[in-house]
Amino acid sequence: MTRRIEVVALPTDVRFGPGDDLVGALLDAAADAGVDLRDGDVVCVASKVVSLVEDATVPLPDGDPRTARREVARAHAARIVADTPGVLVTETTHGFVSANGGIDASNVADTDERARALLLPSDPDASAARVRDGLRARTGVEVGVIVTDTFGRPWRLGQTEVALGVAGTAAVRDERGGTDLDGALLEVTEAAVADEVAGAADLVRTKASGTPFVLVRGLDATSPHGTGQDLVRPADQDLFRTGGPTAAEAAIGGRRTVRLFDPARPVPEGPLHAAVAAAATAPAPHHTRPWRVLRLADTTRARLLDAMATRWRQDLAGDGTDPAVIARRLARSDAVLRAAPTLLVPFVTLDGAHHYPDERRTTGERDLFVLSGGAALQNLQVVLAAHGLGAAWISSTAFCPDTVREVLELPGTWQPLGAVAVGYPSPEAGSPRPRPPVDVTELLLDR
Ligand SMILES: Cc1cc2nc3c(=O)[nH]c(=O)nc-3n(C[C@H](O)[C@H](O)[C@H](O)COP(=O)(O)O)c2cc1C
Repeated sequence: MTRRIEVVALPTDVRFGPGDDLVGALLDAAADAGVDLRDGDVVCVASKVVSLVEDATVPLPDGDPRTARREVARAHAARIVADTPGVLVTETTHGFVSANGGIDASNVADTDERARALLLPSDPDASAARVRDGLRARTGVEVGVIVTDTFGRPWRLGQTEVALGVAGTAAVRDERGGTDLDGALLEVTEAAVADEVAGAADLVRTKASGTPFVLVRGLDATSPHGTGQDLVRPADQDLFRTGGPTAAEAAIGGRRTVRLFDPARPVPEGPLHAAVAAAATAPAPHHTRPWRVLRLADTTRARLLDAMATRWRQDLAGDGTDPAVIARRLARSDAVLRAAPTLLVPFVTLDGAHHYPDERRTTGERDLFVLSGGAALQNLQVVLAAHGLGAAWISSTAFCPDTVREVLELPGTWQPLGAVAVGYPSPEAGSPRPRPPVDVTELLLDR
């Protein structure tokens, strides 16, 4: 059977402003184009005219308009997705992800001709429903309405029109559970029909053609009725949450110390290898690669922790610490180091260190290698966190390097850097304490 749809541009000369009669203008534009609306038609309405009528504008800050628009987008963002010198991508409070949060700064001025930025409609589904209700009230016809806007796509060049608000027509044609021509089960096919209709609407106009309304006739996938929100991907299904420099910031900020692990979930090889590979990208002195990570077998772990406990008890008793306090501190340490699904002992080898005759330079040289180890361990933990694994970097071995070398039979050039307990966070671990806010001006000092 031949399928055919019609896409009809409905241009208008109206320059829209707050409170204008959008439905009246749409009906006038349809009449001018010689079109009578019919049941089952879908009308696409550019979000720009919806925002103008709804007065969704804010003053544009002074200065370079591009910078000003970014400022407005940033202020209205629910989340910064990617922030680069070339492009700012934000998530709006509706959940839409687009360049500059879909904020428009072209051809918008108030009565005093001061520049204003146009925000997206505050509730595009409600806007679409209002237009649909208005059309029904004045003409008696049941049309679908899609409020559209122009978005870029992350993996493709060029922009297309997408559906922000939907009323009285389908958002998605869900073919899951059906079969293809060969009878194979369709498991993921959900056609974003409202976006496709929005894209079709853009075929009959240009940005300069003054065509905020487009009629699409002959669609058969108009039910069940959906909403624009049906097309917003939930955060937990978004594999590409961040981009550009923001990705690095989010990954680094996403690492938190985890001290309680899920005992039922071992640490898989893949993420651990990825984390150690990331550790080995740390900067290091003299073109060395001084990092080593020992993953302890259960018996080795027990032997090392027993020996370190004996040493620690002696240290604390020598300090005059109360035996009850000693027992408590050891128990706290055991709860992490003995209980963690995997225990790593990181080292730097000083084999590549330069030799100096004096202690000052010898200590400085050793510190360089330890610093490199710190950078490596940060990388390791960041990548573990990106894989959903928690880690606790615990001082322990750094205070008894001789004991560690003795138990693990390592040369004197191996410097232990604590221990890293690794595992999936226990469901009982709770959320980490929020980090205190950072005042960069207190940390970055100009001299
Ligand atoms: C070198 C080093 C040693 C640490 N030793 C311990 C430790 O012995 N016990 C512990 O519970 N946490 C230890 N930590 C983790 C810090 O307590 C933790 O990083 C800090 O509370 C900040 O929390 P966050 O990692 O979640 O940002 C250590 C961290 C570093 C860098």
